[in-house]
Amino acid sequence: MSLFSADGFLFLLRWGHFLAGIMWIGLLWYFNFVQGAFFAETDAATKNNATSKLVPRALWWFRWGAMFTFLTGIIMITGFYHQTGGAYLESPAFSLILLGATMGILMFLNVWLVIWPKQQIVIASTNAVLGGGQANPAAAAAGRRAFLASRTNTLFSIPMLFFMGASRHLGLGPLGAGGMILLLAIIFLVEANALVGTAGPTKQPIEKPPALITSGFVLTAILYLLYEGLAG
Ligand code: HEM
Repeated sequence: MSLFSADGFLFLLRWGHFLAGIMWIGLLWYFNFVQGAFFAETDAATKNNATSKLVPRALWWFRWGAMFTFLTGIIMITGFYHQTGGAYLESPAFSLILLGATMGILMFLNVWLVIWPKQQIVIASTNAVLGGGQANPAAAAAGRRAFLASRTNTLFSIPMLFFMGASRHLGLGPLGAGGMILLLAIIFLVEANALVGTAGPTKQPIEKPPALITSGFVLTAILYLLYEGLAG
């Protein structure tokens, strides 16, 4: 039976990776394209109720989806490494997965180290208000930071999936160290935008969903064209 082999094991990991990835990115897009617009439009009582009872449930599936996507991805990389006696690291497939996985890992870290801790502050503050207490004055800034990290993850989701899929299916050549450093630097600059400052013109393109989606395709085009230009 094909499934009970080393390749079968890697295939099962890939399948788990797709399932967890869909759970994670599906909810990410729900937060950014559906829930945000609803919260902006609805009344305060409905918003508080949803923040207290709906958001924590969605965030549970969201962060564990991120965890399983990350773990299956890392185990696959380790598996390919061992299967090829280390040659995987020299392959074009790895150059591309390195770029996709760097965005994926930054997204995973944004979920667990920024979005989830900040959302816990927002949820606790909302629960205090619903219980007749005071709102936490730090909740607005926490919400804003979670928002920027979430918007950045949505931006990354577009090029991240491009590079993940391109790894074995686009026939690109390997990228040298110089090219890799340049592309990774661009990715880290975008991430820095999520982590520093709470306002300012650099964040404007990712504030609203249509510009956010456009920015995702523009970032994909920049990274792809640079890759094509610099790859051997
Ligand atoms: C969190 C960090 C991530 C890591 C370390 C990672 C790693 C990997 C690896 C190693 C592969 C195998 C590529 C191959 O077959 O050679 C892969 C494939 C894939 N990943 Fe990820 N991934 C991550 C995040 C994501 C996310 C968030 C999604 C969103 C759904 C995703 C979707 C995919 C898809 C669709 C493939 C299939 C590519 C193919 O078979 O052609 N990955 N990923």
